[in-house]
Amino acid sequence: MSTPTVEPHDIAAKAFWAQHPDARDEAFARIRAERPVFWSGPAESDLLPPEENVHGFWSLTKYADIQAASRNPKVFSSAMGITMEDFSPEMTEIAQSFIAMDAPRHTQLRGITMDAFKPGNMRKLEGWVREHARDLIDEMAHLGSGDFVDLVAEPMPGRIFGSFFGLHEGDQHEATIRAAQDLLSWNDPVVTGGVEPLEHFVNCVMTLRLTAADLAEERRESPGDDLMSWLVQAEFEGEKMTDDEIGAFFVLLAVAANDTTRHASAGMLYAFTRFQDQRRLLCEDVPGRVEDAVEEVIRWVSPLIHMRRTALSDFEVRGQQIRRGDKVVLWYCSSNRDEEYWGNPFDFDIFRSPNRHQGFGGGGPHYCLGAAVARTTLKSLMSEIFTRIPDIEAPDPDFLVANFINGIRSLPAEWTPEER
Ligand code: HEM
Repeated sequence: MSTPTVEPHDIAAKAFWAQHPDARDEAFARIRAERPVFWSGPAESDLLPPEENVHGFWSLTKYADIQAASRNPKVFSSAMGITMEDFSPEMTEIAQSFIAMDAPRHTQLRGITMDAFKPGNMRKLEGWVREHARDLIDEMAHLGSGDFVDLVAEPMPGRIFGSFFGLHEGDQHEATIRAAQDLLSWNDPVVTGGVEPLEHFVNCVMTLRLTAADLAEERRESPGDDLMSWLVQAEFEGEKMTDDEIGAFFVLLAVAANDTTRHASAGMLYAFTRFQDQRRLLCEDVPGRVEDAVEEVIRWVSPLIHMRRTALSDFEVRGQQIRRGDKVVLWYCSSNRDEEYWGNPFDFDIFRSPNRHQGFGGGGPHYCLGAAVARTTLKSLMSEIFTRIPDIEAPDPDFLVANFINGIRSLPAEWTPEER
C-alpha cells in the first residue's frame, strides 16, 4: 500500500478556506494536475477536542472519480458522517437523518419522503416558491440599493421553509428560521456571539427538533395542506416515519434547503456581475435562457463544496490504495471545474451544453432530494430580477469562511429603482 502523503495545499487547514474562492480554485487546479487523489491529516475542527479529532481523509477531486464513488454506495458509505470534519455519533444521529445512512434504511426513509414530495404536492410547493420570489423582489425593487443577502438571499429560503411547513407567524417562525440559518455557522463568532461551537450547534438542533415535534403532533390531529401534514401521512412499503425520524428529517431539510439556496442566490448575482456578457445574453431572452442559466449558476457557484463518504472495503482510485474505514471527501467545487471533463471550466457560460454538473451530487442514492425546488427558486428569482431590475450590480462580496458551503456573507448591490 502507498503511504498517504500530505499535500502542500493543506485543505484540512482553516486558513485554506479563508482564501478568496479564486485562490481556492487555483489550488484545486494544481491538485487535479499534480495528485488528484490525495491524503490529508485531520481537518482543523471546532467541534471535537484534539485528542478525538484523529482521522485524516482522502480527497477525490476529479469529475469521473466523484461520479464513480457517488454511484457505488456499497463501498462508499454515508453512514459514518457526511462532512470532512467529524461529528460525534450522537450529533450525527440527531441532526443528519437519512443523508447519513445507507441502504436499506436510507432507501426506506427517502422513499417515505418521496411520497410527501409527489407531483401534485410538488406543484403546490413550487407555486409558493414563485410567490415568495415575486414578493421579495416587489419589496426591494424600488429601493435602488441594499445588501442583496439581507434583502433577498437570506429571507427567500426562510420564507419558503416557513410556508412549506406552515410555521406559525411570530415566535415559532422566527426562532425556527434563525436556528436553521445559524446551524452550520458554528465557527463564525459573529453568529455564535461567543457561545461555544458545540453548544451553539446543539441549541440550534434542539430548537428545530422541538418545532418539528409540535408541528407533527398538531398536523396529525388536524391535517392541513403543507409538507408536515404530508410527511406524517406519507408511507413507503406500508411504513411511516416515527416522530424521531420526522424530527431528524426536519433538521436535515432546514439545513439542506437553507444555506445552499441562500448562497446559490447570492452567488448567482455575483456571477452575473462578474460576467457582464452573460448578463446581456440572459436579458435578451430571459424566459428562453433562464433554465440553462440556472444550471450554470449551480455549476459555477457549487454552493455545497463537499460531501464525505467512508470506505467499507479496500478500494483503489488512480493508483492510490484507499483502505477500509478511511474517510473519502468528494470535492464538488473541484469536479465542477475539472478541465478533463469541461471545456473552459472557469468561464461562466449560460450556453454550456450539456451541463451535467455535480452541484447536486455525482448521482447515486443521495442525489439532492430538493434539486427541483432549488431550480424553481433560482429560476423564479432570476426571472424577476433580470426582467425588472436588469442593471443590478454587486461587485464586492464579503465571502464566508467555510469548507462546506461556498457562501457570501454580505453582497452590497445597486440598481436603477423600479417606479412604483
Ligand atoms: C442550490 C441549492 C442546493 C444544492 C447545491 C444542494 C446540493 C446537495 C448535494 C450536493 C447533496 C448531496 C448529494 C450526494 O451526497 O450525493 C444534497 C442532498 C440533499 N439535499 Fe440538496 N441542495 C440544494 C437545495 C436543496 C433543497 C432546496 C432541499 C429541500 C427542499 C434539499 C434537500 C436535500 C436532501 C434531503 C438531501 C439528502 C438526500 C439523500 O441523502 O438521499 N436540497 N443536496
